[in-house]
Amino acid sequence: MQTETIEQTRRTEANEGHERAEDVGRIHGNGARRAQEIDPARLEAFVGKVVNELGATASALLVRIGDELGLYRAMADGEPVTPAELARRTGTNERYLREWLANQAAGGYVEYDAGTATFTLSPEQALALATDDSPASVQGAFQSIVAFAAARERIARRFRTGEGLPWGEHDHNLFAGTERFFRPGYAAHLVDEWIPALDGVEEKLERGARIADVGCGYGTSTVLLAKAYPRCRLVGYDTHPASIDAARENAERAGVSDRVRFEVANAVSFPGTGFDLVAHFDSLHDMVDPVGAARRVRKALAPGGTWMLVEPYAGDRLEENLNPVGRLYYAASTLVCVPNSLAGHGPALGAQAGEARLREVVEQAGFGSFRRATQTPFNLVLEAR
Ligand SMILES: C[S@@+](CC[C@H](N)C(=O)[O-])C[C@H]1O[C@@H](n2cnc3c(N)ncnc32)[C@H](O)[C@@H]1O
Repeated sequence: MQTETIEQTRRTEANEGHERAEDVGRIHGNGARRAQEIDPARLEAFVGKVVNELGATASALLVRIGDELGLYRAMADGEPVTPAELARRTGTNERYLREWLANQAAGGYVEYDAGTATFTLSPEQALALATDDSPASVQGAFQSIVAFAAARERIARRFRTGEGLPWGEHDHNLFAGTERFFRPGYAAHLVDEWIPALDGVEEKLERGARIADVGCGYGTSTVLLAKAYPRCRLVGYDTHPASIDAARENAERAGVSDRVRFEVANAVSFPGTGFDLVAHFDSLHDMVDPVGAARRVRKALAPGGTWMLVEPYAGDRLEENLNPVGRLYYAASTLVCVPNSLAGHGPALGAQAGEARLREVVEQAGFGSFRRATQTPFNLVLEAR
């Protein structure tokens, strides 16, 4: 289409203006005929943007390699290194590293000093690329993207059939990558901001309460809550057995497994009642039956109990989400969230459902009150009672 329109533009110029500008590059869309004029400056700006993003897309694989091989971590001390020095530190091949470092320097992921021909990781680059527990850590997103790529062909086929792809059938990097992607945000906000933003919940948890974490994945949120509130007893539920195994190991490592259990269970049918707090962290929109899951929460809550629903940040209208965070989430949603819900013929709320759509789910389940308790650039924190 683009080649056609450019060719038509050229023809118009050759006709020395005999053709009207509006006739240039007609395209047919939705049965309507629209006139479009090519603006060379805008074309150049757009292609320039795409070239930049092509570089970023291809380099994402090299970021992943840098993470897997410990290349960033080996540079985290901020000491300038030559490719040979980095190869020595990491037990890797110098020729590969020369190319890798050049790519990283071209993208601004490492600094290059031409005078000494050395490469350095700045403190900021180290926080984002080499430090998993930093709030700026981005490696989880790159790890997830590798799993997105592995699902591409299967998802493309499903664009035709409308079938779904269950969460558990993705590449294992999705599970570990998701945990790494969300962990910094949970560590920074869950205990210090999100729990205090809920009505009367912090005091209950400090006194000792029962908590269920539904769709808990690797149990990072469950373990953070367990460590912050030593008088609470917690259970995490997830349908994905491998994630439940990882969650149990997490709890063991954190020394909280005497108060935290993990069970393979579905959000619509998990066992237990009398919970003071039920939480869904980035899981409700993935579900096959979000209203059924919400109804299960109502039954599971103790009188006066609270449902904390943490969902990706989104506005209610598409145009509010046309930004870098929305772009990332729509990509994840197309490849992971929507397919998971469609796998069970669910409504596929998508990762950018927004507060109004989530309110419908909550109200359909019979909750009397629903409000936005707080938010971050990545999360909506909603409270239902
Ligand atoms: C995006 S992950 C989030 C995991 C975790 N809560 C976190 O924030 O890291 C969504 C999780 O929901 C789980 N899930 C999806 N549908 C579920 C259901 N019906 N019942 C229980 N878990 C479910 C998936 O297995 C997956 O672990």
